[in-house]
Amino acid sequence: MPQPSSARLHEFRVVSNDKIAQGIFSLVIEAPALASAIKPGQFMNFDVPGNAQSLLRIPLSYARADEGTGTVEVWYAVVGDGTRRLSAMKPGDYSTVLGPGGHGWTVPEGCSRALLVGGGIGVPPLVPLAAALRSVGIPFDVCLGAKSADVLVGESELDALGAERIEVATDDGTEGRHGFVTDVATELLEQGAYGYVATCGPGIMMQKVAEAAVGAGVYCEASLERMMSCGFGACNTCNVETTEGMKGACMCGPVFDASKVVVW
Ligand SMILES: Cc1cc2nc3c(=O)[nH]c(=O)nc-3n(C[C@H](O)[C@H](O)[C@H](O)COP(=O)(O)OP(=O)(O)OC[C@H]3O[C@@H](n4cnc5c(N)ncnc54)[C@H](O)[C@@H]3O)c2cc1C
Ligand code: FES
Repeated sequence: MPQPSSARLHEFRVVSNDKIAQGIFSLVIEAPALASAIKPGQFMNFDVPGNAQSLLRIPLSYARADEGTGTVEVWYAVVGDGTRRLSAMKPGDYSTVLGPGGHGWTVPEGCSRALLVGGGIGVPPLVPLAAALRSVGIPFDVCLGAKSADVLVGESELDALGAERIEVATDDGTEGRHGFVTDVATELLEQGAYGYVATCGPGIMMQKVAEAAVGAGVYCEASLERMMSCGFGACNTCNVETTEGMKGACMCGPVFDASKVVVW
């Protein structure tokens, strides 16, 4: 059964909206109630002005929330009309965002070490998880994958949050190991020592990480992406097939127990 949603509408003001990698932007918004409420792994649904025909919001994870300044930061890739319009928003512009949506990461009690595995633009939700792990003193390692060095995000932020080991893999070898991040993650898992794995990225990547975690006997959670029309449980467009039947990613996820995901 989905848990009740804590989402509500928030007006936001754009503080900054800057390019951080090739085709990837960091948007900082001022939305104090949202900044206080949102938890690692939850998402927000943005209304982006500029196209009267476009009625749907854009779901995005958050990378940082700061109660002190009342700000929330997201990192997003420009992939279509909505994210192109988002990249055109300027400091001082206003709109609304629905959130916090869904349910986030649940680190098992007694976990002595965690492994975070991010691919491409799946890295943002791992950043607040890293901050939460640090705040409770759980050490963590990180594997980051990207097509190329120019679209790699999160390395310096996760380093600053205290990652003990960061392994990078790029498909073209322009940074870190030449190859897939799943191979690096599998090697680390084979060495043992982890009590929890969190992953977000392309479906095939998360599936391989989940298989490696199962092989190593480690509990693994994955943050899944689905098309989301409403973001609050009303439309059934965000179904995830699980061993317990279809579950809506916006209410039961986006973070799922990876061992229960049937279709990535
Ligand atoms: C819970 C959640 C968290 C997300 N977090 C982030 C994030 O932190 N950063 C980020 O860059 N992106 C994130 N996404 C993906 C982001 O929502 C889509 O890239 C965005 O909605 C595309 O909108 P568009 O109008 O620019 O593109 P469109 O023109 O609508 O589509 C362009 C392409 O993106 C695909 N697409 C569109 N919407 C989604 C979607 N919801 N999920 C998967 N593919 C989609 C389309 O199939 C198409 O191939 C997240 C998605 C979900 C569901
Ligand atoms: S997006 Fe509408 S039910 Fe999940």
